[in-house]
Amino acid sequence: MTQPDRTSSTVLSLRGITKTFGAVNALTDIDLHVGQGEVVAIVGDNGAGKSTLVKVLAGVHRADHGTISFDSNEVHIADPSAAIDLGIATVFQDLALCENLNVVQNLFLGRELTPWRLDEVQMETRAWELLGELSARIPTVRIPVASLSGGQRQTVAIARSLLGHPKVIILDEPTAALGVAQTAEVLDLIERLRERGLGVVMISHNMEDVRAVADRVVVLRLGRNNGVFDVATVSSEEIIAAITGASDNAVTRRRHRRTERTPDPAVQEGPDHD
Ligand SMILES: Nc1ncnc2c1ncn2[C@@H]1O[C@H](COP(=O)(O)OP(=O)(O)OP(=O)(O)O)[C@@H](O)[C@H]1O
Ligand SMILES: [Mg+2]
Repeated sequence: MTQPDRTSSTVLSLRGITKTFGAVNALTDIDLHVGQGEVVAIVGDNGAGKSTLVKVLAGVHRADHGTISFDSNEVHIADPSAAIDLGIATVFQDLALCENLNVVQNLFLGRELTPWRLDEVQMETRAWELLGELSARIPTVRIPVASLSGGQRQTVAIARSLLGHPKVIILDEPTAALGVAQTAEVLDLIERLRERGLGVVMISHNMEDVRAVADRVVVLRLGRNNGVFDVATVSSEEIIAAITGASDNAVTRRRHRRTERTPDPAVQEGPDHD
């Protein structure tokens, strides 16, 4: 299948997004652009700001500064339902599935097709349709989610988020804790989302997964943008250097040294992280 032209249509744009928690600068001046039919991976070390960025997009946190544009219109994502209404779906790392409920019940939880009486047949048909569109390998939709594999659960969580017809889907560590075969299944699924024209934002720690499926990689380091790379042309070493800060140039290193020489008297000297 030919991919949609990813240069033509940016669906989501962040400019200058800043978020602090008290004295912690979780995000500083972050830019991010996601096109239709494009998979953008966000990578970075622990505490780099990845989850905070996801939560700003999902309406869990409000940015202190910066603008968010969706479909070329500036938007304010006040709460999670505002994000969903816009067309931004988020699959959080914990998936938020109900273990004891079956696949259909999980898919339609909170949005049962008829408000007063659950239309079981219609919901089951829609569930099969949706899973079929995603080529999901789920044997039956009437088994509890507890008995599904990690990859199948991820599939159910993604399928559920598609019910609202989003234009952008955010996946927080979709392959963490999955085996090789299940990871491959989820990566296939991400490719199918791209083929459907969705913009996909994928948080990942796994360089192989990023290289396998992403079009672009955005590196966050200490809450700031530290590089945007085209996956086709970047090496894993370059990405890792941006994550760890090894690629900082001489000017940045000099600035770090100056900061180290004039420590805040209120802060005790800790080990050097650089
Ligand atoms: N609700 C909060 N209150 C205070 N500080 C927070 C809060 N959420 C995040 N932080 C801080 O913001 C910074 C960025 O955290 P964030 O969780 O976004 O990082 P991350 O890149 O997702 O890391 P990880 O890979 O460990 O999940 C960290 O210093 C973290 O301690
Ligand atoms: Mg996180």
